[in-house]
Amino acid sequence: FGLWSTKMFQEKKRCCVKLSVHPSRGLMDEKFTVLVQNVLPGFQLTVYAFYKCEGGYSWEAFAHYTASATGAVNVSEDPSRGGTYSGVEPMGLMWSLRPVPGSKSGLRMRKMNVQTPMEVTISVYQGHLTEGFVDQVPLAAVVVERWYMAPGVRRIPITEGGLTATLFLPSGPGPFPGLLDLWGGGGKLVEYRAALLASHGIAAMALDYLTPQITKETGKMVDYEYFEAAYRVLEQHPQILGSRIAMLGLSFGTSVTLRMAVYSQVIKLRCAVCISGSHVQPIDGSHLFVFSLLSFFSNADKTRFNEEQHVIWRDLLMPIPTDASLKVDVGRLRCPLLLVVGEDDQNWPSYESAMDEMMQRAGNEHLLTVLSYPNAGHLIEPPFTPSARASAFKTISNTPQTVMVLWGGEPVAHSVAQEDSWRKTLVFLRVNLYGGSQPGAKMKNLL
Ligand SMILES: *[C@@H]1O[C@H](CO)[C@@H](O)[C@H](O)[C@H]1NC(C)=O
Repeated sequence: FGLWSTKMFQEKKRCCVKLSVHPSRGLMDEKFTVLVQNVLPGFQLTVYAFYKCEGGYSWEAFAHYTASATGAVNVSEDPSRGGTYSGVEPMGLMWSLRPVPGSKSGLRMRKMNVQTPMEVTISVYQGHLTEGFVDQVPLAAVVVERWYMAPGVRRIPITEGGLTATLFLPSGPGPFPGLLDLWGGGGKLVEYRAALLASHGIAAMALDYLTPQITKETGKMVDYEYFEAAYRVLEQHPQILGSRIAMLGLSFGTSVTLRMAVYSQVIKLRCAVCISGSHVQPIDGSHLFVFSLLSFFSNADKTRFNEEQHVIWRDLLMPIPTDASLKVDVGRLRCPLLLVVGEDDQNWPSYESAMDEMMQRAGNEHLLTVLSYPNAGHLIEPPFTPSARASAFKTISNTPQTVMVLWGGEPVAHSVAQEDSWRKTLVFLRVNLYGGSQPGAKMKNLL
């Protein structure tokens, strides 16, 4: 009888706990609310998030809560007392996701197929658990879909002009402003940020410029003309406003963006966004600048390692040279520039570059906006992406090596930087791409 009544009690408790997540289907940069109801006042519970990524690795986040006098927990306003985050963190279940114990080291979460959602299971457990979730039965569970592509966004692979690229067009007839999206030194065609930008009304093209098909076939790195060909595809597309095009780069993509913005005779930008990069690079007039950049950045003497043997590359460009032939002449920029900088960037001297006198003067200082974030690292991604302080990285060279690279960033501060910089980047792009004919609106006048 005793056993039977305990079972009854458990069944009752299980059936009556209500877990709701709103919206349960949304964009990656959209917040959700997680609400637990129908538990006893003061009841201790754990809210748990689980995600199995495309590579087959499992990720988890969890937090300990105590139910209110009305028997509820609202993750958007109640504090976590422990877990993978603490305090009030409305989106902590996403940004604090980490590989489950025992996973291989050096993982970084990146969605490669943007045509399917990230499916995260949110569940509630009795008590304050920190491990053994798989052996327990949750009191309630909900599957949440997180998308990079909003309904109606179209994904168009581009191979014309020898490009390896993907264009994302927003839903609707357009025409839309356009954007060329460049990732960093890892190469590959990485689509998720461009897909998300298209979800916000900008026709965005993700471009592989370090490992494109043409380089695989010929063994040669791309030159100026490759980026200009990508720009022309955007400019001439019937659904894109040819006079309203931006470039956005992260890391190595920043070097390319600044180089093209200042020196290309073809590319005319409305504005540019540079995340975690630098204007330092050899300016020798060569069109083979991607190759010369890569060589410039492989100065092994200045490579450092931390105690865990993670590679620190930020010194490769330090100290910031005074020699003008080693920097993009940012004084010649004619469009507004947004710099996004993590002050704990261990991979590039992005903070020092942004503070460089030449950049500050920029000849036309009114065009420059700097967003600088204390304790944020190098990989400033769209919001709620879990940060990897270090991860495995395959170098681009004739003899590729996989090394563990230190990116930097303290999780809470990094997550704040991602959320804030993304929101401001969207405002910056909207104002400069959709705004009137007068470019140059500075962020501080807007926010
Ligand atoms: C949960 O908290 C958020 C943020 O304070 C609030 O907007 C929402 O209405 C709350 N939900 C409920 C059901 O109380």
